[in-house]
Amino acid sequence: MRITLENFKDVRKFSNVQGLLCSDRPMMDAMGTSAGHINYLYEKGVFKGEKGTSYTISDFQDEALKLTVLAGIGKRDKLDMDALRNAAAIIIKEADRQKMADVDIILNEIPEEYMMDSVKVLSEAAAMCLYRFEKYSSVKHETSVTAVRLISCCKDNKDYQSSIDEGVIVAEGNLIARDLVNEPSNVLTPEELGRRATALGEKYGFNTEVMGRRRIEELGMDAFLAVSRGSANEPKLIVMRYMGNPEDNKNIVGLIGKGITFDAGGYCVKGSGHMWMMKTDMGGGAAVIGAITAAARMGIKKNIVAVVAACDNLISGDAYKPGDIVRTMNGKNIEIRNTDAEGRLTLVDAVTYALRNEGVTSIIDIATLTGAVGRAIGNVVTGVVDNSDRLYSVLENASKRCDERVWRFPVFDEYKKLIKTGSGDLINSTGATGAGAITAGLFVGEFVEDKPWLHLDIAAGTFTEHPDKEYRSEGATGVGSMLLYELVKEM
Ligand code: BES
Ligand code: ZN
Ligand code: ZN
Repeated sequence: MRITLENFKDVRKFSNVQGLLCSDRPMMDAMGTSAGHINYLYEKGVFKGEKGTSYTISDFQDEALKLTVLAGIGKRDKLDMDALRNAAAIIIKEADRQKMADVDIILNEIPEEYMMDSVKVLSEAAAMCLYRFEKYSSVKHETSVTAVRLISCCKDNKDYQSSIDEGVIVAEGNLIARDLVNEPSNVLTPEELGRRATALGEKYGFNTEVMGRRRIEELGMDAFLAVSRGSANEPKLIVMRYMGNPEDNKNIVGLIGKGITFDAGGYCVKGSGHMWMMKTDMGGGAAVIGAITAAARMGIKKNIVAVVAACDNLISGDAYKPGDIVRTMNGKNIEIRNTDAEGRLTLVDAVTYALRNEGVTSIIDIATLTGAVGRAIGNVVTGVVDNSDRLYSVLENASKRCDERVWRFPVFDEYKKLIKTGSGDLINSTGATGAGAITAGLFVGEFVEDKPWLHLDIAAGTFTEHPDKEYRSEGATGVGSMLLYELVKEM
């Protein structure tokens, strides 16, 4: 899809689809011939520019279909960037349904000072909204829209190409994550995940190393290995390095993504109802791969090391069992209370590896870690556990930039005590104490060696059968990729 920007007064010929971003009050001056029609719709209350609403006017002129798609963006004096993304997606999807090739989106409601951000988010939505995972469907949807033109109505004719480029690149990072999460686990084995990361690194300029069982044993990552033992697929430690600011080697951001390629629960086996969805249990890994790809493509001036400890959590004669005690890479003994609380075991060894062997100076881990996070705050927000007010405030700003919501959990000492019991140093599941999303996060926090740390639990938001945003698709949401990109950029 080609995305460009032109100034209203320079446009010689408009496309057959004109999308109008409409606030709660129509701006007639920019709406040309449809002004009377649109005014009528507002007056009658048929279309009032409310967020998420739209109205299509269809006409037939010169043997061609002409569409005017009105897309609501809500209050004019409170411009909402996510409403812009949704509006662009509504317009482009409507054009696609009606088999149109070219779309103009008229930015009549966007004041000059919002142009930069608006162009970025509109480009994001344009790049994401027609995504479908249909690799394995015999009948594929044919996309008709090939070009989107953003038509600026500002007096100033500035060059917004870099905003378009950034929007497309971060959106494509999100789509990389969606593709990986949607892929079934018989295809996306740990080895295949490593291959995909390597291919992206070669294409977009970051270094990738994929280590197998022998090397993982040498490193002493016995907790990670314990989880992997139930599967015939070899575990892989996937390490991606992007040094965008080599002079500043005192600052390396560690992005640690949970990479369970299938989570059957192990001997604490899951029920069959939703087990198929556990192909998505590498959503954190997918997010870090999408984010480091976007960072490398943008050439951001930050050093990033991303680590994914990839394996399945299955059952076999050799699988780990409840009551087992396993030793982590940093020497702590963990009593296994529940083999389905496997993610934290792989994560903590990945964290130790990143600290000891890659020298990272901050830790951001991201994981489909607990069902509890969804029970606590639902699926529209990522739950956060952290040890740094400063880093959390950077995350909050990043969250606003991409409209991926975050919510900070409390960290009370009583919660910390819950995991420090049993026959070893820690237990991997507290049972029915409640606060499961927090205790899971704090377990990871035991391994960060006082480095600034954020833990993002995306279990509830990684996969949806009913997307709540127009630019998302059924299945994987790619959540986390844009958030991590914006976060690292702001750190
Ligand atoms: N992968 C799951 C968490 C999950 C649940 C992800 C739903 C996506 C959707 C995780 O490994 C798990 O099974 N967690 C257990 C932890 C419990 C045994 C302490 C859970 O949430 O039930
Ligand atoms: Zn599990
Ligand atoms: Zn899991």
